[in-house]
Amino acid sequence: MKKFYITTPIYYPSGNWHIGHCYTTVICDALARFHKLMGEDVYFLTGTDEHGQKVEKEATKRGVTPRGFIDPLVGRLQDMWRLLDIGYDRFIRTTDEDHIRCVQKVYQKLYDSGDIYKAEYEGYYCTPCEAFWTEAQLKNGKCPDCGRDVSLQKEESYFFRLSKYAPRILKLYEDNPAFLQPKSRVNEMVNNFLKAGLNDFSVSRTTVKWGVPLPFDEKHTAYVWIDALLNYISALGYGTDGDERYKKYWPADLHLVGKEIVRFHAIVWPAILMALGEPLPKQIYGHGWLLIGGEKLSKSKENARPELTDPYELVKRYGADAVRYYLLREIPFGSDGEYTGERFLGRINADLANDLGNLVSRTTAMITQNFDSLPACGEIEPLDREIEEMTDALFPRVKDAMDRLNAPEALEHIFALVGRANKYIDETQPWLLAKDPGKKERLGTVLYHLAEVCRVSAILLKPFLTKAPAFILESFSYPADVGFGEAKFGSLRAGAQVRKLPPLFPRYDIRKELSEVEKLLASAKAEPSKPPKAEISEKAEISIDDFSKIELKVGEVIACEKVQKSEKLLHETVRVGEEVRSVVSGIAKYYTPEEMVGKRVVLVTNLKPVKLCGVLSEGMILCAEDGEGNLSLLSPEKAVESGAKIR
Ligand code: MSP
Repeated sequence: MKKFYITTPIYYPSGNWHIGHCYTTVICDALARFHKLMGEDVYFLTGTDEHGQKVEKEATKRGVTPRGFIDPLVGRLQDMWRLLDIGYDRFIRTTDEDHIRCVQKVYQKLYDSGDIYKAEYEGYYCTPCEAFWTEAQLKNGKCPDCGRDVSLQKEESYFFRLSKYAPRILKLYEDNPAFLQPKSRVNEMVNNFLKAGLNDFSVSRTTVKWGVPLPFDEKHTAYVWIDALLNYISALGYGTDGDERYKKYWPADLHLVGKEIVRFHAIVWPAILMALGEPLPKQIYGHGWLLIGGEKLSKSKENARPELTDPYELVKRYGADAVRYYLLREIPFGSDGEYTGERFLGRINADLANDLGNLVSRTTAMITQNFDSLPACGEIEPLDREIEEMTDALFPRVKDAMDRLNAPEALEHIFALVGRANKYIDETQPWLLAKDPGKKERLGTVLYHLAEVCRVSAILLKPFLTKAPAFILESFSYPADVGFGEAKFGSLRAGAQVRKLPPLFPRYDIRKELSEVEKLLASAKAEPSKPPKAEISEKAEISIDDFSKIELKVGEVIACEKVQKSEKLLHETVRVGEEVRSVVSGIAKYYTPEEMVGKRVVLVTNLKPVKLCGVLSEGMILCAEDGEGNLSLLSPEKAVESGAKIR
């Protein structure tokens, strides 16, 4: 079986994550999902880069241990990935024991082979970037990457013989153009670094205690960048008896990284692997940045406002599919892209709400209005043939784009089919066919074609969107877990049950929405968060028998929409085992309908049904409420089947 090993950089536990940070990981996730659906054996690695001066300083400032400082931040990063449905295979932390042992082993090996030696180091250090610069490299005396102050540091240090490997790295770029992409990054590396020749590289610190101690000189800790780069092989068990994963997955098929860290990945990393005698990754791709006002989006530079850039807020407000879609579709792959609220909402409105959402809701509505189930496909007309051919051509087109890592292009192809199908509705005018009993068969054929476009588009959207595709497939009673083998015209069987879908994505009034966001940001700035109020319950005791009267089960939200004329209520369709229930809950302020879909919730299933705002509610979804009245859904901690009892 073909394998595919893909990595993101490991993230600094800064806590200051913005939507730009999500870019690398969302693309990796889409690529990992794509290759899994191709039937490949995929290993997708991400994690955190936890050692170094920055963490040490922050922890000291707060009077806590580095671990005490980092752990909650790592948890918060993992929450962010959970919200965005990032399906990694391992989350590595550079404080993991297996990683630390691997770092020590590598240093020992390179020291023994003479590739690491002791000398004295003098250089300008940029703490936020954890990078050393020579005087010549500084820009107006500041860090050339981030423009912040640097400090002159002088210390005894171990050096790695990077200079020795410069000719081999240049040759690598020449012989293997696929190694570093896009091509512009090769020019940057050659012109900015390699042309002038490489200096040996300082790889240890005596001034930083929060790091991996060198096995041959415990006064020194490993330089964070070497420590960090080694995560790509330590995660696979490199250098241990349990190195089956290393044998299986290494070399990596792709290290996807932002352009500012290409030099570590495309110069230092191959040199270390050469020194170790290990194979090199097949490709390093340096993607562009999300910009605000032409500058790299970055919270510390405070250019992150007035746009909504907080990933947690973005997902909460618009749903994971919308955020993923924006990142994957809007930024031309390899280049920088400007981030604005208008562009974000414009994309959601145009592609997700108008094109995809309309196609699916119109198709399912017309089928359920005119037929009991999916109609059969009758005689074909040239227009239908065109739809069939375009549908069949979609998978090869998407694959070709994804083989070049080009998610925006892959999505462009999918939405070209969606757009063509919407035009086909205008051309075939099914609402007129529905009025003429003699045209019933023709109506069936048109709707069958539309259903097939919905199904095939949903299958091909699975790497990019994690909620809507399953939702679309289920509405045609089609299994959601199929691979790309099914992405061909003609798999749906006449007679399949079809369920009318509510609009998948809301359409935003962009001006109104942006002014709401601005108000929200202004009030968040004005009101620093208050400590939660403590509250002790004074409710009467109950017996276990009383408690056992309440039936609680796990339910899966399969559809959700806002209740009209209510600001507070959402209407969920919840699957509880074999049963499907209509449930109304007062959580619209805390969750969007898109966010709710796919969630596993805890449902009180034996409450007397009631109507709320005219909508039937056959159960109650349980939430936790904090001292401020904010609600948070309760969900089982592990994957549990819907219908599971709660005791
Ligand atoms: N810890 C290092 C990586 C070590 S890998 C051996 C690091 N971490 S980071 O947290 O600063 O960055 C993580 C990822 O977020 C990088 O790929 C970086 O390029 C990306 N981004 C951070 N800001 C970004 C934008 N504004 N736009 C796009 N990606 C950006 O670097």
